[in-house]
Amino acid sequence: MAAMDAITSREELDAWRIKYLGKKSAILAILKGLGSLPVEERKVAGAGANSLKNELEALLKEKEASLAGGQAGQDKAPGAVDITLPGKPVDLGHIHPITQVLYELGEIFTSMGFEVVEGPEVEWDYYNFEALNIPKEHPARDSMQTFWVDAPPAEDGREMLLRTHTSPMQIRVMEKQKPPLRIVVPGRVFRYEATDATHLHMFHQIEGLAIDKGITMADLKGSLYEFSRRFFGPDRRVRFRCDFFPFVEPGVEMAVECAVCHGSGCRLCSQSGWIEILGAGMVHPRVLEAGGIDPEEYSGFAFGMGIERIPLLRYGIDDIRLFYSNDLRFLRQF
Ligand code: FA5
Repeated sequence: MAAMDAITSREELDAWRIKYLGKKSAILAILKGLGSLPVEERKVAGAGANSLKNELEALLKEKEASLAGGQAGQDKAPGAVDITLPGKPVDLGHIHPITQVLYELGEIFTSMGFEVVEGPEVEWDYYNFEALNIPKEHPARDSMQTFWVDAPPAEDGREMLLRTHTSPMQIRVMEKQKPPLRIVVPGRVFRYEATDATHLHMFHQIEGLAIDKGITMADLKGSLYEFSRRFFGPDRRVRFRCDFFPFVEPGVEMAVECAVCHGSGCRLCSQSGWIEILGAGMVHPRVLEAGGIDPEEYSGFAFGMGIERIPLLRYGIDDIRLFYSNDLRFLRQF
């Protein structure tokens, strides 16, 4: 015991272990020699030797533990931080899947010659509706239930709202830039709507606008097919159908084959096999005029794509609300 008390290092403890518990130790010699003793003596000597061996092993363990603890804190002044201890793990965040999609779309469209611009989320009703050929009392306003901002109207009677789409940026850009122009506008939009598997009241859109001499519907379709090929791959089916938006003529909607059911019909696509991702068309002459561009000289196409529905279609997610439910088990997958 005294020998053990004097030990202050691992090396000394190893020497102690070899001396008292090693192959050539006295205790092992006793244990080995038990076989040659008469039965009665063997019992007594065996029990004694084993209990001594257990005691020595317990002492060894105790000393090992105290040396390990002592070494970690050896150079520590009282109250000092022990920098050899492992740190607490830090939770690392990553970019939200919707932001990832926005970045990717930005890359696809800039590589096709579009410039990325951004605009205000709080907007005048003039840009959101009037200049887009949707005058007051026009029934098209009903399709975009609006959050009005409770602020006094401007001197010219303009009222403030949360933009219901990214299309107001068509006018803002035309006021500042003259053709040829090719822009995309990613951003947040707001609608006073009930939410469900494919609808949110706050979501993102990316607006596209190209104006030049001689732009046709073929340019619109070609650009959107190219986007779909790059984003969803060459095999995904895409469908164009006629649609109405007061700010384009003619107008279309583009839908992509549902990723969950591959066209056979499910809850996500309301049994249709398709999910509409954007509205588009040739910019209406009145909109070009509102932006100060001569419709006799120039033509253009525009589209407005809903961002949240895009990853649904890529990954086969069956509820759009998951993106904003803050469930880390869902978000960590992207
Ligand atoms: C528009 O917002 C037009 N500004 C699009 C446009 C632009 C047409 C330029 C012509 C020229 P719409 O309301 O259909 O259109 O919305 C466009 C896309 O936004 C839809 O196809 C859909 O993908 C998405 N979207 C619409 N409402 C919601 C919603 N409540 N939740 C999530 N995504 C939505």
